[in-house]
Amino acid sequence: MDARTQQAPAFPLTRHSTTKALRAMISNPLDALPPEVFSQPIVFTKQRGLLNVYLTDPVLIHETLVKNAEHLCKGDQVRRMLGPALGQGLLTADGAHWKWQRQSVAAAFRHDKLLDLQPAMIAAAEETKARWLRQEGRPLDVGHDMMRTTFDIIVETMMSGGHGIDVARVERSISDYLDPSGWTFAFGMVGAPDWMPFPGRSKARAAVTFLRASLADVIAQRRRDEVERNDLVSMLLNASDPEGGRRMTDEEIIDNLMTFITAGHETTALGLAWTLHLLASHPEAEDRVVQEIATVTGGGPVLSEHVSQLTYTRQVFSESMRLFPPAPIITRTAEREFTLGERLIPAGTVFFVPIYAVHHMAELWPDPERFDPERFSPENVRARHRYAYMPFGAGPRVCIGNAFALMEAVAVLAVLLQSFKLSNRNAKPPKPVMKVTLRPRPNLAMVGKRRLQSA
Ligand code: HEM
Repeated sequence: MDARTQQAPAFPLTRHSTTKALRAMISNPLDALPPEVFSQPIVFTKQRGLLNVYLTDPVLIHETLVKNAEHLCKGDQVRRMLGPALGQGLLTADGAHWKWQRQSVAAAFRHDKLLDLQPAMIAAAEETKARWLRQEGRPLDVGHDMMRTTFDIIVETMMSGGHGIDVARVERSISDYLDPSGWTFAFGMVGAPDWMPFPGRSKARAAVTFLRASLADVIAQRRRDEVERNDLVSMLLNASDPEGGRRMTDEEIIDNLMTFITAGHETTALGLAWTLHLLASHPEAEDRVVQEIATVTGGGPVLSEHVSQLTYTRQVFSESMRLFPPAPIITRTAEREFTLGERLIPAGTVFFVPIYAVHHMAELWPDPERFDPERFSPENVRARHRYAYMPFGAGPRVCIGNAFALMEAVAVLAVLLQSFKLSNRNAKPPKPVMKVTLRPRPNLAMVGKRRLQSA
């Protein structure tokens, strides 16, 4: 023990029953959080001799994820959970391998490039609208419909249409992979070997095999195809590592396409589904959204130039992601020791940033369970600490698709809400359950009625 460690204050450990947490984790990792995280800025526990730190104080989050980012890696939990599907793609890689991948695709997310993608976002929403018109009056599985919409958008915008990908099977496969994720978290917590069987494991493995094979076909076709498409696939095919100039292997390209398809559609779809659910039970906010859409579009079809003007609609989406952040917990592991506040954090410490808890803390958000899009008016945003709200994470690993997602969400909401009034049909409000992302349980059942002024 060195002199600094001796002087540093001891960690005030919170007692946290591993057995209880394990049981909760399998069904919903949110229930496995120490309850103290909803009221205290920092909580320490120990698991298998390793320090676990839960951070909800925006200042400490900034200090950790932003200022000390170079001492952190994604760690064992992320490797176990996502590694089998995403390999060493942008979300899961660390260090130099992460950096050159991020640089290679950054141009796809520049503002001017995103503006070009708006028509494709609107077109996918129009297709969903057309499907809803055909099934008017019948129950809608809104979660599923939003997945389909955002999947169409990601494949169209990032992979120039995906060349015959089986959308329905891909969507099922992603659910099959994520469904047993509570087991993976729980096994990670007790240090069980990677090969340990659990319910749903073989289905999850079959899902990954299918998904990766589908993407291998896309790459093979693109290598045969002479046409230059200027999309994410081209960027990955042409990327060259600044250290040594090597190209990505097919496996590395698949890692990244898997990453962009999953990270890029699930999250936005869930954000949209929760938003539609919340608006259906908050008619005043819904009226204001519909009014805003009518004013901005003049009653005509939603066009690209309207999207950035729909500022209240965007506030509504932001507030939904506060209450139901699609990525509710992020984790990091300390690769080496570093100082946080007055404490020396040992290497191997696991950090949890429970975004869900941060967004529900009464100290940061008065009356936190109340849905209030005014929290995201420009003045209120300015008055708040930047890291009191972080649906897209923070620091160098912040979501690369955040501007894409916001643009997409507003475009889809505008097209659908302009034409439909949705009502909730669930007997009880659905519960948010974490399956890596935050899903409603049971599924959101809604009914859509055509609006009279519909274009
Ligand atoms: C509402 C929608 C979205 C939410 C809430 C969301 C949330 C997040 C969060 C919290 C992270 C950081 C994870 C961490 O720090 O461990 C992240 C990373 C990432 N997201 Fe998103 N995301 C969304 C949409 C998208 C979209 C549309 C794309 C792509 C088109 C995308 C691609 C990625 C990628 C590639 C990363 C890894 C970035 C890196 O590590 O450099 N996401 N996302």
